[in-house]
Amino acid sequence: MNDRFLRACRREPVDATPVWFMRQAGRYMPEYRALRQKHTLLELCKTPELACEVTLQPLKLGVDAAILFADILLPLEPMGAPFEFAKGEGPVFHTPVDTRAKVDALRIIDPGELQYVLDAIKTIKREISGKLPLIGFAGAPFTLASYLIEGGKSAHYAKMKKMMYGETSTWHALMEKLAEVVRRYLRAQIDAGADCIQLFDSWVGQLSADDYRTYVQRHVAHILKDVSAAGVPVIHFGTGTYHLLEAQREAGGDVIGLDWRTPLDEGWKRVGYDHGVQGNLDPTLLFAPPAVAQKQAQIILDLAAKRNGHIFNLGHGILPETPVDHVKSMIDFVHERTQR
Ligand code: CP3
Repeated sequence: MNDRFLRACRREPVDATPVWFMRQAGRYMPEYRALRQKHTLLELCKTPELACEVTLQPLKLGVDAAILFADILLPLEPMGAPFEFAKGEGPVFHTPVDTRAKVDALRIIDPGELQYVLDAIKTIKREISGKLPLIGFAGAPFTLASYLIEGGKSAHYAKMKKMMYGETSTWHALMEKLAEVVRRYLRAQIDAGADCIQLFDSWVGQLSADDYRTYVQRHVAHILKDVSAAGVPVIHFGTGTYHLLEAQREAGGDVIGLDWRTPLDEGWKRVGYDHGVQGNLDPTLLFAPPAVAQKQAQIILDLAAKRNGHIFNLGHGILPETPVDHVKSMIDFVHERTQR
């Protein structure tokens, strides 16, 4: 097994810095676009053989981990909040969950209701037969709630914050339900064979640190304290979180995700060297001439200073139009420059 990714998660010495990219399976790859001609995104997610095929597509680029092909929104459908991926708009919930009655109607599901995800994990594990670790994942309560309450992507999160500030008991009831579903779902992913878990709190940078501690932190901790006890490494990721790093670390996770706005050395010092860090190249640099992107990657590697516990990644997901050869050359560059 190429275990440099798992070793870095545990802050053990590695032969080279591990690299993977969020959204490494996706539209920038011609093979993915070809499959999407024939299937909807939800079909890919719900058919274990197809989810497996997509998961494996980027591995030939030389990444050090596979990430399960699924979506953070999948658990919301059986909870009672169906959605669709509308063309060009992203996810849409036609009936937003924005009242106490609608929150009360959401079901705390058993992970068996997402059996297709668990079957995809088993299929992928069989196919990669111990060669690479597999990352499982889920969305964090704040980020999931943003889609549920707003009905889709949002610019200002105004409806969401209206509930958070104005109907705080409804807010906490929603967060508690989401946290319990995610906790069970991640446990089930680990039981199915996931070697590592990443919790995506992509939009939590919207909150001040005080509000994070008041309205969100305990719910993330409910998930991460339990999942960490299952014995696989946990990556806690968000964007726009420069001001939240200490509060996120308190909520849990072995590795904290840093986006490109946080200098890696400062971020690492603040989360503490008893944690690993993941990041943090600006995804748009993969559009730049490789020499320009490599210059920034080298700055990140210099800030990591070969300390044990750095996982090279982007600060957020790969963008759809990214040139595949730039992705490949970045992976090779990081491996070459960090040979121990
Ligand atoms: O990283 C991977 O390769 C694994 C697959 C993965 C997907 N979604 C597949 C997907 C992962 C890890 C996610 C997580 C996810 N989904 C997040 C958190 C990560 C992040 O980027 O912050 C969020 C917020 C979602 C919700 C979601 N799903 C949105 C907002 C969209 C539309 C985005 C867009 O650019 O159109 C999706 C659709 C989605 N999920 C795609 C993929 C590959 C788009 C591809 C397609 O339509 O075929």
